[in-house]
Amino acid sequence: MTTTWAVITGAGRGIGAVLARHAAKEGFRVAAWDLDGEAVRAVAAEIGEECVPLAVDVTDESSVRAAVGELPAAPSLVVNNAGIVRFGPLLELAAADWRAALDVNLTGTFLVARTAAERMIAESVGGSVVNISSINGLAAAPGAGAYTSSKAGVVMLTEHMALEWGAHGIRVNAVAPGLIDAGMSDAIYADPEVRRLRSGRVPLGRLGTAQDVAETVLFLGSEKAAYITGQTLAVDGGITRGALNAMPRARSDAAGD
Ligand SMILES: NC(=O)c1ccc[n+]([C@@H]2O[C@H](COP(=O)([O-])OP(=O)(O)OC[C@H]3O[C@@H](n4cnc5c(N)ncnc54)[C@H](O)[C@@H]3O)[C@@H](O)[C@H]2O)c1
Repeated sequence: MTTTWAVITGAGRGIGAVLARHAAKEGFRVAAWDLDGEAVRAVAAEIGEECVPLAVDVTDESSVRAAVGELPAAPSLVVNNAGIVRFGPLLELAAADWRAALDVNLTGTFLVARTAAERMIAESVGGSVVNISSINGLAAAPGAGAYTSSKAGVVMLTEHMALEWGAHGIRVNAVAPGLIDAGMSDAIYADPEVRRLRSGRVPLGRLGTAQDVAETVLFLGSEKAAYITGQTLAVDGGITRGALNAMPRARSDAAGD
């Protein structure tokens, strides 16, 4: 059987670590990349020899180029998962925080996907790129303007990549996770009251898991999704479809349905 490589960025913790485990289970050899070399080595040690860890800064083109060059073959799957959040209302947000969010979430996705795609095209392997956006890339959220803007950028970047690389057999899609009980949201959901209140706003009645995200990413990366490209799939229990949920209704309206 030929070895198929999956690149997972931000694999040192949270959703990325779960993605690396899932990809290995699905038969990929996993190139697990993270800024935090120690963390990603620990994840790889737990997964086994099918996972190869590397310290990579997705914002640094030379670091990305070296990492892609080290792969024994062009990857069949690239998951741009590395991400950071910087909170603050736009009137007060430090320009450095704005730049950091854009740099990791949007520019990092661009650099990794483009560098990997060059190799995928050169080796004519086709393949798939999955970019991790967020429901914050689909709807504005208080105090998260830098993050939301970067994640909305990921949605459009995904569409562009799909258009430009389709002729090379490369599919590009995005996943927009919702309220996920993992990784960067650990601190939020450590508070049981916040968990209860937030879960109550989700049509499916629960927070999402890293596994929910990983299953969707692996689906989009598989042949089952062979005719899907340029799409953003929200993995959010329906929360982005609930904009009108809390709308007051007239008595006559309520009686009529
Ligand atoms: N957890 C959530 O609630 C949630 C919801 C929606 C979307 N997301 C998105 O999912 C992705 C994973 O989130 P998470 O919750 O697992 O986050 P996390 O903070 O637990 O993990 C992010 C990983 O990315 C790595 N990273 C940061 N900057 C990097 C860089 N420059 N180069 C390489 N690696 C870098 C970090 O070291 C870390 O290991 C992110 O893109 C995030 O925006 C998360």
